[in-house]
Amino acid sequence: MKKLLILFGFIALLTAQAQNINCGTEEATITYLGDPAGSHPAAEAATIERFKEVCPNITVNRIEGDANVQNLLAVYLTAFEAQSPDFDVIRVDVIWPGLLAEHLLDLNDYVAQAQIDTYLPALIQNNTVDGRLVALPLRIGFGMLYYRPDLLEKYGFAAPPTTWQELESMAQTIQDGERAAGNSEFWGFVWQGNAYEGLTTNALEWQVSNGGGSIISPEGEIQVNNEAAIAAFERAASWVGSISPPGITSYQEEDARAVWHAGNAAFMRNWPYAYSTTLNSEAIGDSFAVAPLPAGDAGTGASSLGGWHIGVSKYSSQPEAAAAFAAYMTSSENQKFYSIDTSSPPAVLALYSDEDIKAALPFASPDIVEITTARPSTVTAEKYNEVSTLYFSAVHSVLTGEEDADTAVALLELDLEALLGE
Ligand code: GLC
Repeated sequence: MKKLLILFGFIALLTAQAQNINCGTEEATITYLGDPAGSHPAAEAATIERFKEVCPNITVNRIEGDANVQNLLAVYLTAFEAQSPDFDVIRVDVIWPGLLAEHLLDLNDYVAQAQIDTYLPALIQNNTVDGRLVALPLRIGFGMLYYRPDLLEKYGFAAPPTTWQELESMAQTIQDGERAAGNSEFWGFVWQGNAYEGLTTNALEWQVSNGGGSIISPEGEIQVNNEAAIAAFERAASWVGSISPPGITSYQEEDARAVWHAGNAAFMRNWPYAYSTTLNSEAIGDSFAVAPLPAGDAGTGASSLGGWHIGVSKYSSQPEAAAAFAAYMTSSENQKFYSIDTSSPPAVLALYSDEDIKAALPFASPDIVEITTARPSTVTAEKYNEVSTLYFSAVHSVLTGEEDADTAVALLELDLEALLGE
């Protein structure tokens, strides 16, 4: 028995070395504030199981995080202000490195350079603040259009919509038909219209696809008060209660997914994670496909860049063990499983040539980061959350009809100027 244990210990050590994961030798227990319930808890549980093989001396307690990113950020900031060691490892949204940098460890000090070199350089750049690498890239998100080829065919449409106008007319036709056939719950198009970060990503897509700018340009120019943006927000407001449920103004990702999964929507805007959940859903299974989001007046569609990365709290009492978990979770070995489980494009470049990844994520390509639109988080850094809150609140007021679009963007522009000190 003892020999067997020594053998297992030896194998674990070899595996850890092969992956350059520094497990240390001390017993440690760390807390990981992970994915929300309902998303992909199994992918994280499996990650933790695999990590146990690599670093048997480290126990990971996983707690579920809030699905709403503003709420999650508030949890982090409250704990960080108190310098609380309550959690060691956290999920870092792609928009947060600038905001959270001061509370996160510089992972350059803990992770082998060989591993850092495996990630897409644009993500390493995104996560590097004043020379400090504050999070390791894990998964890429981007806005995509989910649709039902069976319904398109039923109503005589040969291909998915390439413009918002086409989407509107297809959605209306399919909705009218399905309602007439007795499904009173059916809607043309579901998306994320609640007043939260998800609306910023949706509205940015409408705005950019219409040629209305990207909120704040990388050079710091405020881009919200223009005809193209106004028209884009007005168009989205016209969907509320017509091709989209009246309650869409309180929908987050999971609300849209619920309607879609029940087979009650022709089109859905969501992130890649919904690809595997849809395949596994009873009502739809593989009767769906994905396409780029439609174009507005700009002539091409736009997709917001999302995604999640892994950081270690500066207030952790077990920084080495926490960094070992962050390194393992984002390692090429684990990302292969994790990407397939969550149907989220990986952050490790070499995985895009992996046959299993290609088969499981046919829509993924390593240039996603370049072809998507980033939210203005780098240029606004620690002010990003306030910028986004002003933006989604203004757009939300247009969606609910509380404010007309002209007034909303004019006020938004003034608020952004005041916040950014122009
Ligand atoms: C997804 C994206 C994330 C974004 C969030 C908004 O989780 O990956 O970047 O902020 O949705 O709801």
